[in-house]
Amino acid sequence: MKIDVYFSPVQVDEMQLREKNVIVIDVLRASSTIVAALHNGAREVIPVSSIESAVKVSGNLFGDVVLRGGERNGKMIDGFNLGNSPSEYTEEAVKGKSIILCTTNGSVAMVRARHAKNMAVACFNNISAVIDFILETGEDFSIVCAGKVSLFSLEDAVCAGMIVKLLSDRDSLVVELNDAAVAAHVLYKTYSKNLLKMIKGCDHGRYLAGIGFENDLKLCVEIDSIPVVPMLAGNVIKLKAPSGLKKEEAKPSAAAEAVAD
Ligand code: MLT
Repeated sequence: MKIDVYFSPVQVDEMQLREKNVIVIDVLRASSTIVAALHNGAREVIPVSSIESAVKVSGNLFGDVVLRGGERNGKMIDGFNLGNSPSEYTEEAVKGKSIILCTTNGSVAMVRARHAKNMAVACFNNISAVIDFILETGEDFSIVCAGKVSLFSLEDAVCAGMIVKLLSDRDSLVVELNDAAVAAHVLYKTYSKNLLKMIKGCDHGRYLAGIGFENDLKLCVEIDSIPVVPMLAGNVIKLKAPSGLKKEEAKPSAAAEAVAD
């Protein structure tokens, strides 16, 4: 199995990800937020790459069943219902809702992977479930870190490195790594003993703590706290159906149809 890591979405374009198996990581915080939202009963999350798209897609559906979530500079966007803190995405807030998610880096990376064969969302909260999904698929994977405005971000690289480590530990698996995957593995080994310290010390962790989201840092390094796999299905992200079950032929929501236009 070949595992290629990209430390920033700008290192790989949409065409290169086409028909590939892709994992998108945005530990702080879009991946962690999506995992929380779907686990708490959101019908789907629709990633978009701009505020304009979020407004267009939610259009006149905005309100009861369609919510806008996301951030600019870590804070909720004017006219949106939710920010980008996983703790906001409670059952009470999101159950049954379609969430249009617009974030600075995470949702943009997910949109970039929209033509992938499979695209799953990963973070520390769901890492073992993602490993099971990768093993079940049994094919090559590209791991795309959302990074920070086209740059490297430590927390995403360490999470990618943890995926590499968990796969490399499997005796039955021969794993071929690109150089970034080797480097991510080394970073994970360096920081694995104290992920909270790593996340508190990284650029975006310090920034979020400074604007009042220190509690998110703790939530986002909890390993396997939410064992679900969000996956892109058409234009929307939903929970992966348990293996062995047939994919439910659900009618697309009005919001999913709007994003397809
Ligand atoms: C992003 O997409 O850049 C983030 O998820 C930012 C954040 O809200 O922490």
